[in-house]
Amino acid sequence: MLRGHRAEILSLPQDPREAGAGAIEHHADGLLVVEDGLVVARGDYAALAGRFPGLAITEHPGRLLVPGFIDTHIHYPQTDSIASHGLQLLGWLEEHIFPAERGFADSGHARAVAAFFLGELLRNGTTSALVYATVHEASVEALFGAAEARGMRVVSGKVLMDLGPEGLRDTPEQGRAESEALIARWRGRGRIGYAVTPRFALTSSDAQLAVAGELVAAHPEVLMHTHISENRAEIAAVRARFPAARDYVDAYDRFGLVGPRSVFAHGIHLGDRECARLAEAGSGIALCPTSNLFLGSGVFDLARLDGHGVRFGLGSDIGAGTSFSLLATMGEAYKVCQLQGQALDPFRALYLATAGGARILGLGDRIGALLPGQEADFVLLDPCATPLAARRCASGPLAERLFAMQIMGDDRMVASTWLMGEKAWDRDGGGGAA
Ligand code: GUN
Ligand code: ZN
Repeated sequence: MLRGHRAEILSLPQDPREAGAGAIEHHADGLLVVEDGLVVARGDYAALAGRFPGLAITEHPGRLLVPGFIDTHIHYPQTDSIASHGLQLLGWLEEHIFPAERGFADSGHARAVAAFFLGELLRNGTTSALVYATVHEASVEALFGAAEARGMRVVSGKVLMDLGPEGLRDTPEQGRAESEALIARWRGRGRIGYAVTPRFALTSSDAQLAVAGELVAAHPEVLMHTHISENRAEIAAVRARFPAARDYVDAYDRFGLVGPRSVFAHGIHLGDRECARLAEAGSGIALCPTSNLFLGSGVFDLARLDGHGVRFGLGSDIGAGTSFSLLATMGEAYKVCQLQGQALDPFRALYLATAGGARILGLGDRIGALLPGQEADFVLLDPCATPLAARRCASGPLAERLFAMQIMGDDRMVASTWLMGEKAWDRDGGGGAA
């Protein structure tokens, strides 16, 4: 059945850095027409309404309708480890994260956390995500099952880590067999996608990294998801472990892990050769500003990545990240850029959190821009969520309102979240969080 949503609508199907002002598709009084979960049309209400006589229209006065946010890097098993004090990456993993991840051997625990996690994504307006599970096959089953039940687009995979700590270790053959089994079981189900997921170069043997490369080559539909160049001590350890590799990117490249389906989290200390190689390969980077600040990892240099033509999206990187909200993440990305004299454009920030993220996940034709034929995942934002926001975000030029929403906004600004044209979360009515 055809359904219409009338609201102010904003979508950025293309990167405004490449496409200029033409990338900004804004309908001050807009109409989104949806049928069977897909977008049929999007445009100005006055121009479009006449084309659909008798259309059932829901009015959303005072709301800004944008594509659902796409989180390109987040760890669901770290949901309850957010805000763990005192350490940088390697110590933080040992002290806080590995103990928490051991609990995901229990599938009941995994199911309970997965259900809360997906509810929290929806509460924050995130409709799709590339997600780390743990080394346990059952942790992926729990997440995929919960995502399938909600109709959410989730990409994940069993973490490969045969050099991991006690209790979180697999073997190359176990990693291969469990990954193959998950790929076979979940292929074509719901909106689920698979990502071959070596945790990072330090937690997999050469034999396991080779298995990861073989899995990626054998399955043209899967992604490759890992971490890269996040922390100085990590990078030094990678250099020591792979003396023959030119750099961190090359350590992965040698195993066939650098390609157009690869998504690397962080990449904040990459050298010029590494950036050029990632651009040439068409790989994506998930930039995670709240995590980089929280762990003291460093700051990404957007201008440098742009100079090389590297593609990137935004990630929360919960639990090193400090907010599930991609609105808040956009605000922190702006501040990270400011530290280097760069002013991230608010339209570009929204692009990175939507169509830009979809693009690095290989989903640019399905989600991220509310183009006709795309899946109707969207968020209704409430610029008046707080008394101060109402003064700053509710009126004025669009660029100013949008920027203020990124600096001031979080889950409170998400009035409702819709998956395939159906309401999945409502701030006043609940839903979503099981
Ligand atoms: N590098 C390897 N594992 C992790 C992780 O769990 N979080 C972050 N931020 N970096 C990592
Ligand atoms: Zn991470």
